Amino acid sequence: MSPFITLEGGDGAGKTTQVALLVDRLQIVGVDVLHVREPGGTALGEALRPLIKGEIAASPLAELLLLETARAQLVEEVIAPALEAGRTVVSDRFYDSTIAYQGFGRGLDMNIIQDLNRIASSGITPDATILLDIEPTAALSRIGAGIDQRSDPADQQRFESQPLEFHERLIEGYRSLAAEEPARWYVIDASTSVDRVGEKIWAVVTSVLKL
Ligand code: TMP
Repeated sequence: MSPFITLEGGDGAGKTTQVALLVDRLQIVGVDVLHVREPGGTALGEALRPLIKGEIAASPLAELLLLETARAQLVEEVIAPALEAGRTVVSDRFYDSTIAYQGFGRGLDMNIIQDLNRIASSGITPDATILLDIEPTAALSRIGAGIDQRSDPADQQRFESQPLEFHERLIEGYRSLAAEEPARWYVIDASTSVDRVGEKIWAVVTSVLKL
């Protein structure tokens, strides 16, 4: 199987901007790379995305099941075939987001999440996961200032609809996941400039891919 790289972080960490920069850079050096995002990446996943992003109220368990549905489709239809075909896959979020948001954030049972993550991902695990680490207060002002590429009022509203403690639980959760599995995780300080964060991500990815 070829390399599978995921990027993780809370809202406003600059992840979407950085994934796009990374994928461009990989293409420039000739890597055959597939860029996907979660939730999304398939017709079913893109249809579920607005629901998951909060257009219609869902209970935490219902939200979890929607996320895993989108993931199962993405893995089966897109990620697994691409990896089998020798392509490098870069995903904007993967199952660690579910542990962070639905587990640490919303307090759902971690065993249920782990089981569903394993089932939905058909046993596929990332080779490297980059955590864009930023304090929630800094992320919030970044969203507000429009520094984040995809920043829009809906994102800001969504961020603010959760108490600051939710975002703090998320980042603490992510840090504990990274500490538990240091061989897979790379923690990058995302509070600096887009260029500096991009350089750090590039250093990680070139070493993982042995470019
Ligand atoms: P994003 O594209 O801005 O990262 O939006 C995706 C949103 O969905 C974000 O708020 C995090 C949330 N999400 C979860 O809560 N759990 C998950 O497993 C995934 C993939 C995303």
